[in-house]
Amino acid sequence: MDSAPEHIVVHRSGPLHGEVTVPGAKNSVLKLMATTLLTNGVTTLTNVPDIADVAIMGDLLDAIGVTTAWHPTEHRVLQLTNHGALTPVAPYELVERIRASINVLGPLLTRCGTVRLSLPGGDDFGSRPIDMHMAGLEAMGATFTIEHGYVEAAADRLHGANITFDFPSVGATENILTAAVFAKGTTVIDNAAREPEIADLCNFLVAMGADVEGIGSSTLVVHGVERGSLHPVTHEVVPDRIQAATYIAAAGVTGGEIRLRNARYDHMEMLLRRFVDMGLSITAQADGLSVWAPERMRATDVATLPYPGIATDYKPLVVTMLAVADGVGIVTENLYPGRFRYVEELQRLGAEISTDGHHAVVRGVPHLSGAPVRAPDIRAGAALVVAGLAATGETVISGIHHIDRGYDDLVGRLRALGADIERRPG
Ligand code: EPU
Repeated sequence: MDSAPEHIVVHRSGPLHGEVTVPGAKNSVLKLMATTLLTNGVTTLTNVPDIADVAIMGDLLDAIGVTTAWHPTEHRVLQLTNHGALTPVAPYELVERIRASINVLGPLLTRCGTVRLSLPGGDDFGSRPIDMHMAGLEAMGATFTIEHGYVEAAADRLHGANITFDFPSVGATENILTAAVFAKGTTVIDNAAREPEIADLCNFLVAMGADVEGIGSSTLVVHGVERGSLHPVTHEVVPDRIQAATYIAAAGVTGGEIRLRNARYDHMEMLLRRFVDMGLSITAQADGLSVWAPERMRATDVATLPYPGIATDYKPLVVTMLAVADGVGIVTENLYPGRFRYVEELQRLGAEISTDGHHAVVRGVPHLSGAPVRAPDIRAGAALVVAGLAATGETVISGIHHIDRGYDDLVGRLRALGADIERRPG
């Protein structure tokens, strides 16, 4: 991250045309990186997004005993070397910077028998506890103490258990899954999260030598194997469905026709159906998607749900699209009650949105009007960039370190599609 804060400056653009390649998913690569704690040797990840969170996770793993380095010649290839002598401590300075740092808990506990982890931070949109992670690991024999902002977990050897989640938590599913790899016996996770990034993690584990069944379903079964029996692999990170949706939203608010190489229709089906309701035409191709957007979209109603429902991470993009669509749309948030903070920023751009608890009512206007705005988190930051494409005058977005956490060259990719956008020194 640059020390002098930059801004992103956007002018009304479009229609967009051209092709972009969708990078690997942040919410997969961070978990795959943490999972290399399970095996000594050099793991190679390909299609890795060049984003700040990957660097932060790299620093965290470095403190524990896994070094990371970009491949000297191959594009977006990351090599992680687990030297074997692990220090199972995740310090505050690193953990507070990303929520995904919680993903070292499962691998470290199952491999080292003990972990000391600062309570995780992440995006500032509501309370994000880890009670389900702890309850699951407790059922597998772990004991926890929480003191002075640190969680300490211990278990000589975890054992298999039947765990049923009240809610399909992404992070808890991942931690139980990785912890179960070296547990004695069989672990069954019911009501497991089913996101494509979880399936990516399962496939990675299986390639390493773990025994996981039910991949892609809401019941995951893990038969424990002996510690030391996994081996490092080369693995391609699944494409980022949220970044893909960002480019579709950009085309949606400007009109035009774009191609998204690597985007997976099957990973975004519910959302893409809504986009079709809004007047977009979307075609699945062997290596991506093609998208045609009308001059003006129609409004629709959208509710967020765990996968395969419409992800909460898409919501700021959807609200932005509705802000310039024809008609009134209602958006309901079912995951994070506090995740409407960016609405005030969209209102500064002239959007007509009112919120009431979990609902936002969005009355589309023909175009927005540029203004200075601040990105409150990764996804809302990207949505403000998209909004700027549909705003007359100049939109200047600050707080773009949030966007850099999860977007690999958003500005460059939008420029490649013909958008009038640049990064400027602050
Ligand atoms: N929850 C609990 N207790 C738990 C775990 C979760 O109450 O033990 C609650 C959370 O507080 C939250 C909800 O359940 O309200 C969802 O939590 P979940 O565990 O499913 O999410 P997560 O693993 O913390 C991941 C993504 C988020 C994404 C959510 C939901 C990563 C690093 N983060 O978070 O992505 O919004 O799943 O799909 O994978 C982003 O990328 O911008 C982002 C925030």
